[in-house]
Amino acid sequence: MPYKTIYLDEIDSTNNYAKTLSGAENTVIIAKRQTSGRGRVGKSFFSPEGGIYMSVILKGGNQPFCAGSYTALTAVAVADAIKRVCDIDCGIKWVNDIYIKNKKVCGILTEAVFDGNKLKNIIIGIGINVSDFLPNDELEEIATSIERESNRKIDNKQLINEILKKLYLELQNFDSSTFFEDYKKLSIVLGKEITVLDPKGFYKATAIRIEKDFSLTVLKDGVEKNINFGEISIKA
Ligand code: BTN
Repeated sequence: MPYKTIYLDEIDSTNNYAKTLSGAENTVIIAKRQTSGRGRVGKSFFSPEGGIYMSVILKGGNQPFCAGSYTALTAVAVADAIKRVCDIDCGIKWVNDIYIKNKKVCGILTEAVFDGNKLKNIIIGIGINVSDFLPNDELEEIATSIERESNRKIDNKQLINEILKKLYLELQNFDSSTFFEDYKKLSIVLGKEITVLDPKGFYKATAIRIEKDFSLTVLKDGVEKNINFGEISIKA
């Protein structure tokens, strides 16, 4: 294991816990369940036992920080690990969700910890629905689990190890890595009619390009627009 590992039975959120570990680096926090798992844009992440909830803590350094590229690199690593360990194909829904057959199985939340102006740590939170535990129709509609889709029992430890191995390797070649091409190949939004969930108002558009900074360019009424934050829905 390339990372120092801290195992917890229960925590509010592994990302929150990671933020309290001042000065930690190359460390991963893994919890059996979370009581207040968090997603992007203020959403919660349902985290009962049986899933994988973990946060990788990296040293910040002086490089400009682009959360989107860490999220994208992680999405590629997770999709690759799921394919290897569970023999199932995943796609990436811009920017941080992993899908199997049009339903979400994994979300990624990258956060930065600053000390004044200095980027102290980068925290990459990964949540994966492994066992079949979806509690209500609302989640049934949008989410699925690896065990449901692959019809087999998954060894969480094996999957975690594979993800961390791949993530570590990708992070070693962060600048020259091929993950941008891999990310585009795995994208399930390119060429699709989507709805952009802009806080100022939803609108329909076509996803046409993922940029080097992992922002998404869409075509709306013949005009290109670049989105680098927020949510999209594939149901146009
Ligand atoms: C999303 O779906 O928008 C992202 C979900 C990220 C969930 C993971 S689970 C481990 C880590 N701890 C959290 O509170 N969130 C992330």
